[in-house]
Amino acid sequence: MVKTVLVTGGCGFIGVNFVRLLLANHKDWQVINLDKLTYAGNLQSLAGVENEPGYTFIRGDICDSALVADLFEKYQIDTVVHFAAESHVDRSITGPAEFIQTNIVGTFTLLEAARKQWLREGEGRSDLCRFLHVSTDEVYGSLGKTGYFTEETSYDPRSPYSASKSSSDHLVRAYFHTYGLPVLITNCSNNYGPYQFPEKLIPLVLNNALQGRELPVYGDGGNVRDWLYVRDHCEAIARVIENGTVGQSYNIGGHNEKKNLEVVELLCDMLDVKVGPLKSGESRRSLITFVKDRLGHDRRYAIDAGKIAEELGWTPKFTFETGMEKTVDWYLNNRAWMESVMDGSYRKYYEEMYGS
Ligand code: NAD
Ligand code: DAU
Repeated sequence: MVKTVLVTGGCGFIGVNFVRLLLANHKDWQVINLDKLTYAGNLQSLAGVENEPGYTFIRGDICDSALVADLFEKYQIDTVVHFAAESHVDRSITGPAEFIQTNIVGTFTLLEAARKQWLREGEGRSDLCRFLHVSTDEVYGSLGKTGYFTEETSYDPRSPYSASKSSSDHLVRAYFHTYGLPVLITNCSNNYGPYQFPEKLIPLVLNNALQGRELPVYGDGGNVRDWLYVRDHCEAIARVIENGTVGQSYNIGGHNEKKNLEVVELLCDMLDVKVGPLKSGESRRSLITFVKDRLGHDRRYAIDAGKIAEELGWTPKFTFETGMEKTVDWYLNNRAWMESVMDGSYRKYYEEMYGS
């Protein structure tokens, strides 16, 4: 069915990959990308597809209720895929205010616009509409050595970021139960792949390792994340929009738990093979530096993605090996993109965070 999709945050890491997927695979869908272009959003990431028919970019804030209402009316939006967020845990620790504003107030603003447009009395359009809220596994807190997060796991957010995402999930559910808004929620594990801003672990390590700079590993490097190639996440979201049951949450993950130190060592080894060791002849592993731990650092995340597999037939296509191979090659072939996003504000952030 033809859809008119409002993608929020379509210039960020996952949003860009999702917009590219839609423009390639759903050519009859209209895609309206609303993005504020914060430090994490980059128009260069959509180079080559920005003139595709059916694609429109709007620079704006999801908290701007007049703008959002206008977009719903003007484009007759029937589907929302809501990525826009402040997404970096470390930034939420040093400056939580923006997280409350964008992640909670912004989600509320979108829900209100959808409610007013889709649930107008007598119009009965809402059956055809979907509001997909892209959330995170971090809402569930931290696991011990065993166990998995399921859709039934109680919420236990432990950083300002995950608390703000949890709040937005609760608002989305409330709009389903109270008003009957046709919502869906996805809670995904750590993504990696092309176009990720270099303040997150994998692109940060790749960039520093290529430049011969220290590779900061928080604490003992033993924290575990469940890594998923971004393309698999985007395909899961498309599947949930088309076939998900309204009012439900779907956990998405890669069955791919790795300790942070393992990930960093793997990246060093891959670069040593692909571009050769450091000038000194040493492996890039010699750059690994254990630094002060993140405050409240969640120890382990791991997703049980059984529900989306059973109900919607989604499983990841990429293994960690195939996904990492594609990712490292992409960063090696797109050094110009990396340079273009590391502007003055990135360098200031990096110095404040890591000291040099
Ligand atoms: P990102 O930080 O790379 O991108 C966020 C995008 O949102 C940017 O383009 C930014 O400009 C835009 N944005 C921020 N505030 C805005 C506002 N007020 N109005 C309009 N646009 C705004 O984030 P990401 O890693 O692509 O994550 C996207 C979504 O997926 C987030 O909601 C995040 O919580 C969720 N998520 C991310 C991961 C992950 O591993 N990256 C995993 C699970 C869920
Ligand atoms: O689990 C899903 C979440 O994954 C998403 O909701 C978030 O938006 C996304 O940013 C990501 O959060 P993390 O905090 O897990 O990602 P990050 O890349 O910041 O860190 C991954 C792990 O690596 C984490 O345990 C902290 C550690 N780390 C991170 C950085 C930036 C380091 O050891 N050194 C670093 O320099």
